[in-house]
Amino acid sequence: MSKTSALDLASGLGGKIRKEQVKSAVDQYENYHEIYGGEVESRTSNYADLANKYYDLVTSFYEYGWGESFHFGSRWQGETLRESLKRHEHFLALQLGLKKGMKVLDVGCGIGGPLREIARFSSASVTGLNNNAYQISRGKELNFSVGLSETCNFVKVVSVKDLAENSPLPWYLPLDSSQFSLNGFRLTRVGRFITHILVKTLECLHVAPQGSLRVSNFLETAADGLVKGAKEGIFTPIFFVLARKPLDKQPEI
Ligand SMILES: C[S@@+](CC[C@H](N)C(=O)[O-])C[C@H]1O[C@@H](n2cnc3c(N)ncnc32)[C@H](O)[C@@H]1O
Repeated sequence: MSKTSALDLASGLGGKIRKEQVKSAVDQYENYHEIYGGEVESRTSNYADLANKYYDLVTSFYEYGWGESFHFGSRWQGETLRESLKRHEHFLALQLGLKKGMKVLDVGCGIGGPLREIARFSSASVTGLNNNAYQISRGKELNFSVGLSETCNFVKVVSVKDLAENSPLPWYLPLDSSQFSLNGFRLTRVGRFITHILVKTLECLHVAPQGSLRVSNFLETAADGLVKGAKEGIFTPIFFVLARKPLDKQPEI
């Protein structure tokens, strides 16, 4: 059953955190953030704890305010929020061409609202991947309550890792125009300048099509953005997620 009453909100608050520890979990969660004195290093190294505390603390609010699906969708005049979310889920199922017998993975599935709706709409089997144990337990309860336990299930993320963190050399080195390298010469500042002149010349001579230089320019802008994002620690292209199917069939809740 969906838990959308004020009492459900209160009883679910804290997720897997014991009730008497909710207050200290809120303190710890807030203290990760800059406005409470938290530092980037602590947030980064405690990413899993930060994310888990967040979802343990907020999930019952989400259910209370948003229902079983925690996303957004385009919305028509006269359409309720819930209707618009379901329509979005049907849209996704149609776009994917889902049918009975197909198996789909929903990455970051919440408590499985979209997963259940898509399974009912398309008859496909959907597995939800999530990093939060409380959301998975809610998802299993809800699957069971609507008779979807046989076709839909959940898998918990075992670990997530930014492989960039332990990389002996930064992954963005080849894109960093402030570096010099002979074997990656074309990507250095001088190499890029030569490419720029080359493409410009080829375009002027009509060897390369009109617009080629602009493509080269926006690729350079993108490369600079990637390097900046990496140096500021807000972007990684090698985020690794390890998940494992349950070894034994878990008893449904
Ligand atoms: C905004 S909610 C959306 C949930 C769901 N897609 C829906 O629309 O109802 C984001 C979800 O992603 C999950 N999540 C965040 N980081 C994750 C990670 N690294 N691995 C797996 N799930 C993750 C959260 O636990 C949460 O359930």
